[in-house]
Amino acid sequence: MRIAILGFGSVGRGIARVILAKNLDILVTGLADSRSGMIDPAGIDIEAALARKEEGAPCGSPDIRPIDVVTGADYDILVEVTPTNVENGGPALNHIQTALQRKKHVVTSNKGPIALAYPELRVLAEENGVTLRYEATVCGAIPLIHAMQEGLAGNTISRLYGVFNGTCNYILTRMAAEGLTYAQALAEARELGYAEADPTYDVEGIDAAIKLVILANTVLDMQTTLDRVDRTGISLLTPEALHLAEEQDCTIRLIGEIVPAAGVLRVSPRIITKTHPLVVEGTLNAVTVETDLAGDLTFIGKGAGSIETASAVIGDILYIRDRYVQGS
Ligand code: HSE
Repeated sequence: MRIAILGFGSVGRGIARVILAKNLDILVTGLADSRSGMIDPAGIDIEAALARKEEGAPCGSPDIRPIDVVTGADYDILVEVTPTNVENGGPALNHIQTALQRKKHVVTSNKGPIALAYPELRVLAEENGVTLRYEATVCGAIPLIHAMQEGLAGNTISRLYGVFNGTCNYILTRMAAEGLTYAQALAEARELGYAEADPTYDVEGIDAAIKLVILANTVLDMQTTLDRVDRTGISLLTPEALHLAEEQDCTIRLIGEIVPAAGVLRVSPRIITKTHPLVVEGTLNAVTVETDLAGDLTFIGKGAGSIETASAVIGDILYIRDRYVQGS
């Protein structure tokens, strides 16, 4: 089986590392660097590309554009891991549409196209007899979409709520534990590489809201948009507010919540008791799903990170390979 990887940032390199380390039987056909272009779409040496990237050298030819790989290369699955753009989906939306039209399966970690255009992309995939999977768009390593689409398929979800943004969780954890100011904690979070390129997306709750929209539209049978999420971020929270909560054996977390039957979608800082299962430390994510058959389930794990996000992408790749790619 052959995949084309578009994007060679943290996620793309994580995928390449896992394929090498686990000696997976996957050929990589195009490896894009969003800043420096592409290397030969006919086939690549991942090890060499990783080494070049690590040294800060371009790993691609500026003459070959990502869309050239999408339209011209030979692959079974397009792995679209270029940076997220939630304004209009960015070039990734076109990459995904074009690949589906070419009857290629698509796996993506890119939140923009899924949050903005999932219904259309799903129809396009169905019309062309291929599969679109996007586990890595929500909560990194936690296989939440997989669990909801497959494991919990017979359940009615009455509520889903939790911590969807690792950057905010880290900031709140550090403000409570060390008495850091919001600005100090944000600076630390950025250094860790968890924050979005524009951290406003994290701290104003936009990233969490996007994840709610993806879940609502793709696994909860709702039809919604980002502007319908009732959203408050954490940028105005003071250390004093956290201190007051701590005095009551509580703390503050940025909680995203969906109540499908009531059409509720909201993201806001909430005071919760310190013993609550959703009070996770650092950059972790935690999500509770309330169901009629399975009861309440809480998923906790790493919501971002190179290898952790690659875990979700590789899971989708192998899912497609095992079901739909002939001869594998
Ligand atoms: N900026 C995001 C976070 C990355 O902090 O959770 C994963 O979507």
